[in-house]
Amino acid sequence: MATTVLTVNEVTKSYEKKGSQREEAQVLEVLSGVTFDLKEGSLTCIIGPSGCGKTTLLRIIDGLIEPTSGEVIFDGKPVRSPPAKMGFVFQQFGLLPWRSVTKNVEFGLELRGVDAQKRREIAEKYLQIVGLQGFESHYVHELSGGMQQRVGLARALAIDPDVLLMDEPFASVDEQTREILQRQLLQIVKGVTPKTTLLVTHNVDEAIFLSDEIVLLTTRPGKVKEIIPVNLPPERWTYDLRARPEYGYIRNKVWRFLESEIVEKGGFEAYGLRSAS
Ligand SMILES: Nc1ncnc2c1ncn2[C@@H]1O[C@H](COP(=O)(O)OP(=O)(O)O)[C@@H](O)[C@H]1O
Ligand SMILES: [Mg+2]
Repeated sequence: MATTVLTVNEVTKSYEKKGSQREEAQVLEVLSGVTFDLKEGSLTCIIGPSGCGKTTLLRIIDGLIEPTSGEVIFDGKPVRSPPAKMGFVFQQFGLLPWRSVTKNVEFGLELRGVDAQKRREIAEKYLQIVGLQGFESHYVHELSGGMQQRVGLARALAIDPDVLLMDEPFASVDEQTREILQRQLLQIVKGVTPKTTLLVTHNVDEAIFLSDEIVLLTTRPGKVKEIIPVNLPPERWTYDLRARPEYGYIRNKVWRFLESEIVEKGGFEAYGLRSAS
């Protein structure tokens, strides 16, 4: 049995919306009793409808926001602030426009007090791994979206995290770039520098291609509906996954779940649309 690296235990989160003179204060329940764990070296995808609390959940895991109840256990302790050994890749890249590519990758190392010479060496190594050698002194606006996200990935990897968190990392790039980045990500986290990875997506094919396990989150308040193991052979970038019967089976299952969540709870039935199941 693989070792558990991180545990999300009964995490609940509500946001309070302050009232005005005309409106009463409201509580928005976003996550409800979310529980799952991450096994060493595995890649887990969380999939769920827009607004179901995926970003909130990742930020709680990274210690950026506090849960209302429940806890995240990492390295044997509850997470209370961003742990040094967690890396985060943001949907909108989150790069610093006034810094060069290298200086962006060095950012987390600076915060951790790594000296300049060592920082430079580490940044060069990870820029090479993500295929950005030659772009070290470029600025963010000189790069395509796909290249910017590779800088984001190099920056997260540079701190040598035990857990890599990624929030819809490929949602802002075009379809072809997305497929290439997915393959590169797998080659990195399942090969070059093995990592325990948790990635949020709303894309079914992305979830199946990347995952060892898929966590299905319901419409808000997000709850874990099911955890689906993806028992497809490793080195998935080397063959056509979609031709395999297991692929069709999992795709159908995940899509049916999403469809019923979105159609039935999203008010689509008013227009005569019903889920096919
Ligand atoms: N800081 C906040 N204050 C109040 N409501 C928030 C805050 N952040 C997110 N929300 C609300 O919580 C819900 C879940 O948001 P989010 O976690 O971003 O969902 P997802 O990433 O799944 O699309 C949304 O309805 C959003 O408007
Ligand atoms: Mg989000």
